[in-house]
Amino acid sequence: MSSLVGHQIQQSEKVKSLIQELVGEVTKINSQLTGIHAPQDAFKDAGKAKVDAAGLFRGRPLHYPYIGTGAGRGPYVELEDGSVKLDLINGIGIHLMGHANPRVLTAAVRGALSDILIQGNLQPNNEYRLFTEKMVKIASRKSRIKYGWLATCGTMANENALKLSRQKNSPARMVMGFKDAFAGRSTMMAEVTDNPAYKQGLPEYHEVLRIPFYDKRDPKSGEKSLAAMKEHVAKHEGNISVFGFEPMLGEGGYQAAPREFFLPLLDFVKSKNIAVWVDEVQTFTRTGEYFAFETLDIGQYVDICTIAKTAQVGMTLYTEEFNPKPGLIAGTFSGSTPCLAAGSEMLDMLSEGFLGANGRIQQIHKRFINGLNALNEGSCKGLASDAGGMGLMVAFTPHDGKKESVNSFLNKLYANGVIAFPCGKDPVRARFLIPAIIQDADIDIALKTIEKTLLEGV
Ligand SMILES: Cc1ncc(COP(=O)(O)O)c(C=O)c1O
Repeated sequence: MSSLVGHQIQQSEKVKSLIQELVGEVTKINSQLTGIHAPQDAFKDAGKAKVDAAGLFRGRPLHYPYIGTGAGRGPYVELEDGSVKLDLINGIGIHLMGHANPRVLTAAVRGALSDILIQGNLQPNNEYRLFTEKMVKIASRKSRIKYGWLATCGTMANENALKLSRQKNSPARMVMGFKDAFAGRSTMMAEVTDNPAYKQGLPEYHEVLRIPFYDKRDPKSGEKSLAAMKEHVAKHEGNISVFGFEPMLGEGGYQAAPREFFLPLLDFVKSKNIAVWVDEVQTFTRTGEYFAFETLDIGQYVDICTIAKTAQVGMTLYTEEFNPKPGLIAGTFSGSTPCLAAGSEMLDMLSEGFLGANGRIQQIHKRFINGLNALNEGSCKGLASDAGGMGLMVAFTPHDGKKESVNSFLNKLYANGVIAFPCGKDPVRARFLIPAIIQDADIDIALKTIEKTLLEGV
């Protein structure tokens, strides 16, 4: 045989042109979606019945009356009630290249034509190999990272990060993290997460030590965090395995911190042989570089880094010293073939003008933040305060920042055609996980819709 059968499928001109035709046809149909559209009378009832059924069978209503039809175009998505929304939350940050991106679709269809839908650690295909190689090469450019292990989601990537730290620093068991941290939904990650609402009725394990995050209003904020850290270490020296943190507080309120805040903390934990684990599940690909540790220039401190969301699959990345003993991490699922293929494609796409100080991600950030600040100073005076974030992660505080008023704002914003989501506790903030492919005209539509909604009041 002149070439392996799998390679024949990869190289077949016929398969290639069929995929092109297929994706082309779907893209043509999707191109009818040109902008925000209100629910349509003909579909409203059927759409509501589908939303209700989803809630009924999962035992809790959906947060928004949202069931997608499977059609979308860029930042726009069609719902079963006939509405088209401008999606600025993207599955809480998964769909970096928007809805039905032809390149992402093409990669996913290629993956779907593979002999297996889900790859595992025992019998991987090339997508497993290629994704891992690509991620490690990107991650190691500005850090000591040398390996990456796939995981099914951010929570599992984080569980593995914790296991690696504990094994390396055995028998140390405790975790040091920030107040208002979010780390996922497993039993242990719910413990690392600093939100009582997410662990109601669960036992407490008392394995997490908290330090305050950066507070831009307090010039002594950095000193206070370092002092809290030193106090914990004085009390638990030898029993703290890892300092795990988000480089920008995510669910905790979209608060960013400068490099100077992190450095003394990182120097101190390094001096105590406590592992440094950066949870980039939310920040990965969004801050203007692949990793926020690159944007903040703290890569040399990183022992372990976790990603998921925009990668379309989870991964724990780590240095030589943290490579675990065989048996510590594995699992049946590594990731689906379409997701591994599409995730890989998206990593390539990002290198085409999105990154860097003047890349598209920073342009989007500036336009959105400037627009929010202009509203706060102009037509919506005082109603859109404290706009901030990093890159494609943007938040502001609507109205008085109280839970009821922010939820009311977000529900009205949804009805007006823009999807966002809350974060933080005091204040509660409206957050946007903006797709990298958004055009300036669509940012302006988002800002106009935010303005209209703010002026509707609470
Ligand atoms: C910082 C951070 N860590 C972990 C997770 C958990 O990831 P997943 O929901 O994929 O398990 C999230 C999800 O929002 C996150 O933002």
